[in-house]
Amino acid sequence: MDGLDAIKAKYLESIMAAGDEAALEGLRVAAVGKKGEISLKMRELGKMTPEERQVAGPALNALKDEVNSAIAAKKSGLADAALDARLQTEWIDVSLAGRPRSKGSIHPISQVTEEVVSIFASLGFAVAEGPQIENDHYNFDALNIAPEHPSRQEHDTFYMHREANDDRPPHVLRTHTSPVQIRYMEKHGAPCRIICPGRVYRADYDQTHTPMFHQYEGLCIDKDISMANLKWTLEEFCRAFFEVDDVELRFRASHFPFTEPSAEVDIRCSWDKGQLKLGQGDDWMEILGSGMVHPKVLQAAGVDPQEWQGFAFGMGIDRIAMLKYGIPDLRAFFDSDLRWLRHYGFASLDMPNLHGGISR
Ligand code: PHE
Repeated sequence: MDGLDAIKAKYLESIMAAGDEAALEGLRVAAVGKKGEISLKMRELGKMTPEERQVAGPALNALKDEVNSAIAAKKSGLADAALDARLQTEWIDVSLAGRPRSKGSIHPISQVTEEVVSIFASLGFAVAEGPQIENDHYNFDALNIAPEHPSRQEHDTFYMHREANDDRPPHVLRTHTSPVQIRYMEKHGAPCRIICPGRVYRADYDQTHTPMFHQYEGLCIDKDISMANLKWTLEEFCRAFFEVDDVELRFRASHFPFTEPSAEVDIRCSWDKGQLKLGQGDDWMEILGSGMVHPKVLQAAGVDPQEWQGFAFGMGIDRIAMLKYGIPDLRAFFDSDLRWLRHYGFASLDMPNLHGGISR
C-alpha cells in the first residue's frame, strides 16, 4: 500500500510535538478515530484482492498500533510534565519553624484595663495606684462618707480582723478606687489628671456581682473644670473604647457623698435577639458614677477648694468588658475555666493603642 510511510512520519512527528492533551486527542481522532485517516484506509482492505490484502492488512495494523502507542507514551509524558510543574509551584519548606499556638492568653480584664489606660493616656491622664487593703480613713472618712452611711455596714464592706487592743484605724478591703483620689492629691497636690485601675471588694455575689471586681477611677483637678469637661471626656472615652461614632450618654442626677453635684451615667443601647448594640435603640445601660469633687474631699486631701475644682468618676472594668466583648456572666471572669479563657482571651502580643487599634 502506498503512502503509509508518509502517514506514519506525519503522525509520529505531530504526536511528538503535541503541547497538551487536547492536541493529542485531536491527533488520535484524525489518525485512528472512526473517520480517521488510518481507519479509512483499513476500510479499503475489503475492496482489495486477497494478495494485496495480505500485505496491506498487517502493514495498516502495525501502523495503527504504532500511532496508538506513541499517543499513550506522549500522554504519560505530558502528565509527568504537568505534575512536575505543579510540584514546582506547590511546595512547602518542611524545615521551616512551626507556628505554635501560644499556651497562655491575656485575660479580658487585663486587656480592657490596657485599653482604658491607652485611651486616657492619649487624653493626658497618668496612671496612679493605691493599696487594696485600705484603712477606713481613706476608704470612707476622707471621702466624706459619714459613719452612719449604709455602704459602711458590714454586709457591704469586708473588715480586716483586729485584735481587741489594736488602736490603729480599722482596715478594710477597699470598696472602691476612690481612696486613690485622696492618696494621690495628698502626695502630688493640684492640678492633676489621673486614672486609677484596680481591684475592689464588696460582699455581694450573683450574676452581675462578685465579691472582688475591678474599677477604675478618674480624677481631673484644675482651676477651670466643669461638668462639661466631664461629659466631653466620658463621651470621648466611650467613642474610642466601644468603637462606635454615635455614642449617646445620659447623665442622671444621683448622690455620692464625695461629689456634688453627682451623676450616674447610662449609655444608649438596644438588645436585638439577645445581641447587645451600643449607640442605638431605646434602652439605657448604667456604666459609671461621677460628679464634681466635693470641696470637703479636696480639703481632706490638702487641696484648697477655693482655688481648685474638678471632676471624678468611677467605672466598672468588668462591666464595660462584658458590654464590649459580649460576655454574659460576670462570675465566669474568675472561674479560671480554660475553655472560657481560650475563647475570650487575647493574644499576648496584641497591646492596644489608639493608632494600631484598641481591640483586635
Ligand atoms: N466610688 C463610686 C462607686 O464605687 C463611683 C464614683 C467615683 C462616683 C467617683 C463618683 C465619683 O460606686
